[in-house]
Amino acid sequence: MMELFKEGGTEFYAPEGEATKKLPVFYNPAMEFDRDLSVAILRAFGGGRCLDVLAGTGIRGLRAAKEAGYDIVLNDCSPEAVKLIKKNVARNKISAEIRQQDANLFLRTFKCDKVDAIDIDPFGSFIVAYDSALRAIKRRGGLLLLTATDTAPLCGVSVKTCQRRYDARPIRTSYAKEVGLRILIGACARMTAKYDLSVWPVFSYNHRHYFRLFLKTENGITKANEMLGNISYLQHCFSCDWRGYAKTDWFKEKCPECGGRLDWAGPLWAGGFADVDLCKEILEKTDERNVKKLASMVASEQEVTLPFYDLHHLSELKKIPSPRKADTMGRIRDGGKKATETHLCRTGIRTDSTPFL
Ligand SMILES: C[S@@+](CC[C@H](N)C(=O)[O-])C[C@H]1O[C@@H](n2cnc3c(N)ncnc32)[C@H](O)[C@@H]1O
Ligand SMILES: [Zn+2]
Repeated sequence: MMELFKEGGTEFYAPEGEATKKLPVFYNPAMEFDRDLSVAILRAFGGGRCLDVLAGTGIRGLRAAKEAGYDIVLNDCSPEAVKLIKKNVARNKISAEIRQQDANLFLRTFKCDKVDAIDIDPFGSFIVAYDSALRAIKRRGGLLLLTATDTAPLCGVSVKTCQRRYDARPIRTSYAKEVGLRILIGACARMTAKYDLSVWPVFSYNHRHYFRLFLKTENGITKANEMLGNISYLQHCFSCDWRGYAKTDWFKEKCPECGGRLDWAGPLWAGGFADVDLCKEILEKTDERNVKKLASMVASEQEVTLPFYDLHHLSELKKIPSPRKADTMGRIRDGGKKATETHLCRTGIRTDSTPFL
């Protein structure tokens, strides 16, 4: 029933079959892309101790050890998972600490024993273990690698769930995914500030059914205050697709483009969602073509922090045929505004221009 798999430079056993919770130990081959990216980012951070909090087969931790040189601690509450983790550690001839604890209890044991990197890769959202991770991570230059698969709440399909989980209001716009990504980062920032600590998104992205954040810690109140300066709200006009960030006391009454009613989302992160220098390092630290593609796309996106426009949606709204993306971007740039593509949408344009059709 177990099969031998290989990812990057690491061989390991995992159950074959469809990646569902019904597997004796969870393993999803489709997430290999994210594990390749995570290895590249871990390499850029230069090693140390890494916790794989929800390890499953142990593959994330194993790859951190073998391909990025980390000392690892692998944890999973499931006895079947721990049995398989032991087998995989032995097969790879690495030394690793293995634990079978609840994620939060596990993380709390590192309270006075700061670690360099913590990966939380759950079914659902990392947010239920986030506070515990903050207590364990080192306060300067630590790396949090976080998965959230709850795209429905974050993208506005279940508003109440998003409010409970992230204390934020999502919105069902054509760029709902970007709002989801920004709500996630914003929630992390707001949960971190109380410790006079800050987190900064060095890389974040959405792919299919999941969001993934890579946050770097910085110590001290000055940086924590600076971080909170990036928390904002979003106002959106469903009539003309205008959108803008606003602090609550600066909410606009009406749409500045068409005078229509404005809806809102947030609080959310209105700053950059990746560090351009880290993106360049990712390019150096991996040979994976798709990882390189994502890293250079995400780097280019950091020029503009306003959510992208979906050309398809905008042309439908204006009842005109959809123009070619490259032509439209050229036209926007000729008008002196910025225009880039986005990894979040094939027909998306990120620009500091007002609705441009
Ligand atoms: C999505 S899987 C991890 C997949 C793995 N990281 C990978 O890349 O293949 C989530 C894992 O968390 C474990 N788990 C669920 N709840 C937990 C908890 N409260 N504490 C510890 N482990 C938990 C499950 O047994 C499962 O193996
Ligand atoms: Zn409007």
